Amino acid sequence: MPVLRSIRERFERERPLDGVRVAACLHVTAETANLVRALRAGGAEVALAAANPLSTQDDVAEALGDVADVHGRRGDDAAAYAKGIAALASGEPQIALDDGADLIAATHEQLRGGIEETTTGLVRLRAMDLACPVLAVNEALAERAFNDRYGTGQSTLDGIVRATNILLAGRTLVVLGYGWTGRGVALRARGAGASVIVCEVDPLRALEARMEGFDVMPALEAAERGDVFVTVTGSRGALRGAHFERMKDGAVLANAGHFDVEIDLAELRAAATGGVREVLPLVEEHVLGDGRRLHLVAAGRVVNLAAAQGHPAEVMDVSFALQALAAEHLAGADLGPGVHAVPPELDRQVAALKLAALGVEIDTLTGDQEAYLSSWMPRP
Ligand code: ADE
Repeated sequence: MPVLRSIRERFERERPLDGVRVAACLHVTAETANLVRALRAGGAEVALAAANPLSTQDDVAEALGDVADVHGRRGDDAAAYAKGIAALASGEPQIALDDGADLIAATHEQLRGGIEETTTGLVRLRAMDLACPVLAVNEALAERAFNDRYGTGQSTLDGIVRATNILLAGRTLVVLGYGWTGRGVALRARGAGASVIVCEVDPLRALEARMEGFDVMPALEAAERGDVFVTVTGSRGALRGAHFERMKDGAVLANAGHFDVEIDLAELRAAATGGVREVLPLVEEHVLGDGRRLHLVAAGRVVNLAAAQGHPAEVMDVSFALQALAAEHLAGADLGPGVHAVPPELDRQVAALKLAALGVEIDTLTGDQEAYLSSWMPRP
């Protein structure tokens, strides 16, 4: 993670977070460990709790114990998760780094500021009466392009393929939701040889999907055609009883949204009058009344982290570089309560560092071009 490393090296010299208490509710992965170390290098005291019980890498949680207070083990139940959040809150954090908004919701009245990594979290925070500023890292361009599109796009399919070992070529893959993550999943599924159907509620996004060459249709129609279904809507019940009733025998269901609510698990269980059994690790077969079998991957939890290793380090390098710079910005700036965009210069700084790490050079405007672009004078 060269971009994060360069920030860590600067943090070691400048100590912009000296004495700042940072609490993080993130997926406990090797990449997150690098972020924690960068924050520590900047002088922060860091406490970390797992954002999802199936994404925790226990060896990482163990190894981080010497530099941070870590809560969470793989497979934890809801009570252990709540205990982790409560432990972070009791440490009176000044800055919270969040993945899903549970931590900021619990601590916003005491925070100097928060940083939110997910679309789901931002939807929740915008519906709240926030007492502190929150930087919407998820909406930074470097994050969307990298994390959502390329990171989730690849790792979602990775999770599905690792769990089921199916061939995507020749299958019909239905993507529910065409935000940045949906775009990534659709793009990569097409690249793997699948026919892709997109289901959307937003006309602009639906139009974009159509112009990209994907089939676009309501989910009830897609339910009859799909072999693999991926939910990335951020909402609940994107796949529910009415859809299960129409699906083909052998359909695979996976969720890549943050919470396990996008596939209605209660309705799936209710439809499975023929029984439920584990047919592979992380794959549950639900047998419907007429004998059709639906295969649920990773219990409907975020499949790229639960059935694979989440986004590759190259992707998290960009996301966590943004998080580190956003934490530094929050520590130094006086922002009012509410959700704020990440300053565009941070976005560009991270993109420039990533290009440098990749050894890619780009052009700069000439003086004449700069003058042209900053002038209102009539064009000749
Ligand atoms: N979110 C998605 N992938 C991740 C990863 N590898 N580490 C931490 N958070 C993530």
